[in-house]
Amino acid sequence: MADLIVALDVNDEKRLNDLASALEGQPVWLKFGLEALLAFGYGVIERHSARGFKVFADVKFHDIPNTVGAASRVLTRTGAALFNVHAAGGAAMCAQAREQSEREAAALGRPRPLSVGVTILTSLGPEEVRSVGYEGTPGEAALRLAKVARQGNLDGVVCSVHEAAAVKAACGQDFLTVCPGIRPAGADVQDQKRIATPRGAVEAGADFLVVGRPITGAPDPAAACAAILEQMHGRGPRRA
Ligand code: C5P
Repeated sequence: MADLIVALDVNDEKRLNDLASALEGQPVWLKFGLEALLAFGYGVIERHSARGFKVFADVKFHDIPNTVGAASRVLTRTGAALFNVHAAGGAAMCAQAREQSEREAAALGRPRPLSVGVTILTSLGPEEVRSVGYEGTPGEAALRLAKVARQGNLDGVVCSVHEAAAVKAACGQDFLTVCPGIRPAGADVQDQKRIATPRGAVEAGADFLVVGRPITGAPDPAAACAAILEQMHGRGPRRA
């Protein structure tokens, strides 16, 4: 069954605490990305893990293999349950992320964090994908990058819902798909381009749905979150 990850893209302590409290007790993971990690420091992962949340550290590492491997070791100490690197860093870089996080976890006597590769950002449409140098459609580029992540022994990829089935067909059904770009029917699309509804994402085989602003920007984030969980589990609208 797919899990819901709520992206807490905030930089204000009160807002962070209000949102975490609103989500406490719901079966969701939390995601901290660049904004929150820069505002609160990496301790935010540790604090929320200690509170019982599973945390996705959306660090998007992209550097030489040695640097990413070392960073992955340090990140593992925070207790993050999942983290990511850009698959475009290459298979050797992905392999270091996986290997070094696994080693550090073993040294700490903890389960290793899952590691996944970002393929193509869900905010990029076909023109932009071409303009940054990738050949073919966003789907084709994402699939090539998924194969790089697989070769680097990562657990899966971050991709759009539209690529989830093809990624699994090419890399194996156990290869995880973490899918942002989720918008409930009728919600504001904002800067996302390759989107799907919560139900559509589950039907496409996504393992994790990443949802930020439709929850964090809602007047009642707890209710918005509960509504998305309901849609994921089959009682909501099927199409945007
Ligand atoms: O607010 P929204 O639902 O658009 O948030 C999506 C989250 O997923 C953001 O934190 C964004 O950084 C992240 N993300 C994404 N596309 C990717 C990788 C991560 O939107 N390919």
